[in-house]
Amino acid sequence: MSYAKVLAVALVGLAGHVVEIEADLAAGLPGLTLTGLPDAALSEARDRVRAALVNSGESWPNRRITVNLLPAAMPKHGSTFDLAVAVSILAAAGVLPLAPLQGVVLLGELGLDGAVRPVRGVLPSVLAAAREGVRRVVVPAGNVREAALVPGVTVRATDCLRRLVSFVRDGTALLDPPPAPAVEGDSDLDLADVVGQELGRRGLELAAAGGHHLSMIGPPGAGKTMLAQRLPSILPPLSDAAALEVTAVHSIAGVLPADSPMIRRPPFQAPHHTASVAALVGGGSGLARPGAISLSHMGILFLDEAPEFGAQALETLRQPLEDGYVVLSRSNGSARYPARIQLIMAANPCPCARPAGDEHCECSPTMRRRYLGRLSGPLMDRVDLQVPLMPVTAAQLIEETVQAEPSSVVAARVAQARAAAAVRWSDHGWSTNAEVPGPVLRRPPWRLPAAATAGLHRAVDAGSISARGFDRVLRVAWTIADLDGRSGPDHGDVQEALAMRIGRIG
Ligand SMILES: Nc1ncnc2c1ncn2[C@@H]1O[C@H](COP(=O)(O)OP(=O)(O)O)[C@@H](O)[C@H]1O
Ligand SMILES: [Mg+2]
Ligand SMILES: [Zn+2]
Repeated sequence: MSYAKVLAVALVGLAGHVVEIEADLAAGLPGLTLTGLPDAALSEARDRVRAALVNSGESWPNRRITVNLLPAAMPKHGSTFDLAVAVSILAAAGVLPLAPLQGVVLLGELGLDGAVRPVRGVLPSVLAAAREGVRRVVVPAGNVREAALVPGVTVRATDCLRRLVSFVRDGTALLDPPPAPAVEGDSDLDLADVVGQELGRRGLELAAAGGHHLSMIGPPGAGKTMLAQRLPSILPPLSDAAALEVTAVHSIAGVLPADSPMIRRPPFQAPHHTASVAALVGGGSGLARPGAISLSHMGILFLDEAPEFGAQALETLRQPLEDGYVVLSRSNGSARYPARIQLIMAANPCPCARPAGDEHCECSPTMRRRYLGRLSGPLMDRVDLQVPLMPVTAAQLIEETVQAEPSSVVAARVAQARAAAAVRWSDHGWSTNAEVPGPVLRRPPWRLPAAATAGLHRAVDAGSISARGFDRVLRVAWTIADLDGRSGPDHGDVQEALAMRIGRIG
């Protein structure tokens, strides 16, 4: 037999499809031709596959070899096809029976020595294969844990081509996935560490309960970074479906540790303000890498010192905040990665980053306005919670004797508030108050009684709050009521939401 066909998976963004890799050996000038839209990396496969095969003790067929990847029109990136290409050639040469690999998807990059190296995107590839009815896959040993997360698929791994070849020839066992490790430990950052900062803690709890974007403005040392880092500790864990999707994005980025279980906690990404636009949105040649924005999908994107991010970087947030995904345009089409993020921003009120009232600060009021103004416009328009923070005093730090409320207690309130909101909006397809459009909250049946909104109406009439601000106050008021276990906001809730907006910047 001089023809053979095996299966692999091609990824475009998070979407994947099973592809066929067929090899044909013919008389003629010896050599290997790869067809079917291979990109540059795939062309390099030629040399890798040949060396790997020879260094695994196999002989390279001295024939005219054609390897074709089907369907030809589908873009194929990277080195993940090496293993399937090598096996197809051996099978076409008649030195490897194909029966044991019937219906089996093969994924993996080959080293010149025949080692099978981990590749990016194994989890979404195996998910795609499962969707198309594949029940058995062979993956690199370094990717076996993520592959094993997919239900209904038998996963085996190999660390070298030789091991796969002996499995096919004489049934020598491949590697089994190791038992899943214990559930990842919760981060040890706890709200119990935060002294004082009632308003900051409240803002954080409201953000967690309502899914609201949050900005914290305050002088250095007020605890802005400290608070933001503790948001994951009060958020509910991801649902099974969300966990799989988040883990798939991290798999494509190549940032899943080989021994990691599924990502169960909402991710927390804190890119530095010097991060490039590409680091935020993603990109790169071959299979596009998701950036920090997509890595925070279903979790938190924290912009510390937010005004220091460049205008271009801040602009990249617009699409994910509006649409919930990022589109990367590529030479051969575009890749789309999910990015439903909760945005948390921290900022000093002053470009010199000195404490409020510091005698060395020479920044004019105009400079300060302009500094925070970098955040205004489309970005701040979406931030429901804008919380001013004052520094804690030395006395507070020293004299505080009762321990502050721990994250576990706050998390329990957040969970019940989220459940209440999810039930209320389920008919509309929203799960948090942050997703509810302003007009819905202003009209029956959700319009609040006049007694509840009298203070808010006065604030609008006095010009101290905009129409957008009005909607934001309503959304936050619903979250306050949910946290308190009531069926709707009262006057006190609306007033608290309004008070939160003192110090607003947009
Ligand atoms: N409210 C607080 N409770 C306890 N420690 C605090 C508090 N605020 C600040 N600190 C201490 O000061 C350090 C700096 O806080 P940080 O969160 O980085 O402030 P910011 O981001 O506002 O500049 C923290 O690591 C912590 O040790
Ligand atoms: Mg800070
Ligand atoms: Zn200053």
